[in-house]
This record gives sequence, structure tokens and C-alpha cells, in this order.
Amino acid sequence: MGKATIAFGADHGGFELKALLVAAAEKQGHPTLDLGTHGPAPVDYPDIAQAVCTAIGEGRAARGVLICGTGIGISIAANRFRHIRCALAHDVTTARLTRLHNDANVLALGARVIGPQVALDCLEAWLATPFEGGRHAGRIAKLTDL
Ligand code: RB5
Repeated sequence: MGKATIAFGADHGGFELKALLVAAAEKQGHPTLDLGTHGPAPVDYPDIAQAVCTAIGEGRAARGVLICGTGIGISIAANRFRHIRCALAHDVTTARLTRLHNDANVLALGARVIGPQVALDCLEAWLATPFEGGRHAGRIAKLTDL
């Protein structure tokens, strides 16, 4: 079985970091879907979150990565979608734990608050870590029911 397709999206605060992360995901063997933005012209992070979350909902990608200046706005937007569990991470430990415990299907990163190497390490850990299931599965089901 091939590796999961990962959809990427960023606003103008995160498009440069996005390019680095797309290249890293591809190097790890993941097909990618880059849903923009591609330059410094201002765009609205809810529109980017919608593009990525819709791609996941339609099965065009299994998981997504969203980047804005802080990661906050774009993670709030993503979590408006019922099928999305988006986690904002600033370090490798939370990136890993949000896969293990929360089965996060979207990772949010803040390009203006973490450096590129930390972001790359977060992505690598998040892509490589499976959901632990077990006691966490019922909690995920409760999230879906909220
Ligand atoms: C855009 O200037 C900035 O507000 C956005 O990237 C993000 O940080 C919002 O949460």
C-alpha cells in the first residue's frame, strides 16, 4: 500500500514554510496536494482551511497540513469542520502526541512563531506516528458526537 496523500495549505504568512514542508513530505514518499497560496499576496486563512478540509472530506487527501502566521486562525477555521481534528503544534512532542492520542488528521503550524527546522521535525514526527487507539478511541468518538 502506498503512503497517504497529504494536502497542504498556507496563507501569506506561511507559504514559504509550506514549500519546505511539501518537499519534505514528498521526500518521505507521500503524494502531496498543494492547495495554495503560492506567494506573498494576502489571502484569508479560512479559505485555505476550507480548501484543505474539503479535500480531506472528499477523499482527495487522507490528512492535511495548514500554516498561517501563528497557526491559530487556520486551526480554528479547520476545526469548524466536523470531520476534522486539527492540532496546533509548536514542538515535536505535541506533534507526536496529537497523532497518538487525538488522531489529529490536520496539523497546524505557525510560521512566525517556530523556525523551519522545528516545523520540519514536527511534520516528520506527525507523519510517522500512528493513532494509538485503545482508551483514546472512545474520546475521539465523543468529539465527533459533540
Ligand atoms: C495574517 O496576517 C495572520 O493574521 C495569519 O497568518 C494568522 O496568524 C492568523 O491567525
